[in-house]
Amino acid sequence: MAKDKITVVGAGNVGATAAHIAATRRLGQIVLLDIVEGLAQGKALDMAEASGLYGSEQCILGTTDWSAAAGSDVVIVTSGVPRKPGMSRDDLLATNANIVKSVSQQIAAHCPDAFIIVVCNPLDAMVHAVAKTTGFPQRRIIGMAGALDSARFCYFLAAELDVCVDDIHCVLMGGHGDDMVPLPRFTTISGVPIAQFLSEAKIAELVDRTRKGGIEVVNLLGYSAYYAPAAGAVKMAEAILRDTRGVFSCSAYCRDEYGVGGYFVGVPAVLGRRGVERIIELDLDDSEKQQFGESLAHVKELVAAVDRML
Ligand code: LAC
Repeated sequence: MAKDKITVVGAGNVGATAAHIAATRRLGQIVLLDIVEGLAQGKALDMAEASGLYGSEQCILGTTDWSAAAGSDVVIVTSGVPRKPGMSRDDLLATNANIVKSVSQQIAAHCPDAFIIVVCNPLDAMVHAVAKTTGFPQRRIIGMAGALDSARFCYFLAAELDVCVDDIHCVLMGGHGDDMVPLPRFTTISGVPIAQFLSEAKIAELVDRTRKGGIEVVNLLGYSAYYAPAAGAVKMAEAILRDTRGVFSCSAYCRDEYGVGGYFVGVPAVLGRRGVERIIELDLDDSEKQQFGESLAHVKELVAAVDRML
């Protein structure tokens, strides 16, 4: 059987780390693409040389040439500029919209059947830009943010409670911004609601830390996080390629779901070989609905800004 083919666009921190994780998980043939001559080639060569040591995928190509991406099953888009201290994700919109547009045109030309996982910020608006430029069916275009944000929330809870992070399950909705909506009511430790283990104040503190999880890392490093974002993107790629039907918080196209009315925004969704297999509709209470509505309103503003540009 032919190997699956995964193209990672952008050989910066997130892209190179995603390629590396995909290689160690032996997801298939990997193409790492960047416009900077030598960058993707050098990193891909380094990873390929490690294949005998890791027991990882050895079929990794670094290139500046889009024709190498032809026939990709999944394309992970990490290109664009990341945040620096003092910047919000929204500050990246104008620069990244144009980068994402040109990347999307290349994807449409070379990988017309691919699933696209978008990682660049401001996330939900960039997913819209990809959809608008490629014209691909919406179920094949998914934004990676909730996987990261919910992983952060799960980690903070696991560290606080000293339990295995694998046993914590959470759902997070809304746009990938400071108004994202972690949902403690739907967060459990092996099925037991977290309210049985933690005070309201402690939960609120961890929700707040999750909302500011991106900037916490930016302030420490001087640039954006990449291990966890890359891991989120690869896990979603794996769900699609291996048809795991994993449930992910991710930016998916919602028409009637949650009354969204035709936007990409963070919701829980089942991922499989058709991309977004279905969106899970939770019975939100009034406060959760209100928070989601506010976050969606913000996403709509960013999408309108993209539409004025592209
Ligand atoms: C973060 C960036 C990747 O949340 O948005 O770390």
